[in-house]
Amino acid sequence: MKRILITGVAGFIGSHLVESLLSQEKEIIGIDNFDPFYSKEQKESNLKQVLKNKNFCFLEGDISQKVTLESLPKIELIIHLAAKAGVRPSIENPTDYIQHNIQATNNILEFAKNQNIQKIIFASSSSIYGNNTSIPFREEDLVNEPISPYAFTKRSCELMNYAYHHLYDIDIINLRFFTVYGPRQRPDLAIHKFFQKIYNNEPIEIFGDGSTARDYTYIDDIINGIEAAINYIHTHSKVFETINLGNNTPVLLKDLIKQIEKVVFKPVMLKNLPMQAGDVNQTYADITKAKKLLGYNPHTKLEVGLEKFKNWFEGRIS
Ligand SMILES: NC(=O)c1ccc[n+]([C@@H]2O[C@H](COP(=O)([O-])OP(=O)(O)OC[C@H]3O[C@@H](n4cnc5c(N)ncnc54)[C@H](O)[C@@H]3O)[C@@H](O)[C@H]2O)c1
Repeated sequence: MKRILITGVAGFIGSHLVESLLSQEKEIIGIDNFDPFYSKEQKESNLKQVLKNKNFCFLEGDISQKVTLESLPKIELIIHLAAKAGVRPSIENPTDYIQHNIQATNNILEFAKNQNIQKIIFASSSSIYGNNTSIPFREEDLVNEPISPYAFTKRSCELMNYAYHHLYDIDIINLRFFTVYGPRQRPDLAIHKFFQKIYNNEPIEIFGDGSTARDYTYIDDIINGIEAAINYIHTHSKVFETINLGNNTPVLLKDLIKQIEKVVFKPVMLKNLPMQAGDVNQTYADITKAKKLLGYNPHTKLEVGLEKFKNWFEGRIS
């Protein structure tokens, strides 16, 4: 599997993935529209190093418009990460999420069909489990009750992927990521947002009583999981799989804050606010399937991942 198209390549996960794949001598075509959800400056800085690599071709473009990359050499695999992410803003503007998540995914599927590209890996999300009461979350759990537009766009894409697999024999893996963190994390996500507030000497906003929990998964573990999925889809045919990539260790919000205090060596100020619409109570991945099919084995402890995040964050602000 030599030539790969990555959508959303300038984002948090995409920029780590392209770096890792280029180090394995892959040829990567990356596309991103620098969606204004967060700063273009951060995304450009994510790509700064890889843009120097001769095996990387970057295209600035919006895949929610028709995808026409016919002039490019044959692509063997698409890793479709581009999306509008974030639960809360999706409630404010569902139409944008439908356009950039559902319409854009359909464009990618049509592109794959027309170009005879047989393999796709899709970035799905733990959000599709909603307030699932069966813990930990298993891939075979019923996921018919999404509680935000973001979640229903991701679930819609998983379903659309199945139809294209069925109709056109496209091999597809839906990877359900669980709260990914680490250097370059999106600024809207809890850990990044908290560090920003702490370094500004402002209180961090806590929605609810601190008893919500997230299965924080370190970026390197996610990249290992995606690479194992690349290997799996490359070596198998007739593939349609949906696989959790999480850490299998949910952390309470109040415990996350204690860990952050240890890493920054100071108590943090809190501002307590009510729970927000669309937020799920907890996420908790069952990773049995990922272990079995992919040999996935996340090993980064929260304190280690937070320390690495802190080093990156301080490097940016210094
Ligand atoms: N980070 C997480 O914790 C997490 C968890 C679950 C799922 N996911 C999914 O993983 C993927 C990557 O997430 P991320 O955290 O790196 O987000 P990100 O916002 O950092 O990256 C997404 C990238 O997609 C680009 N993009 C958006 N719409 C586009 C369009 N129409 N055309 C071209 N590019 C477009 C954005 O500019 C951005 O650079 C997303 O699909 C997200 O929904 C992420």
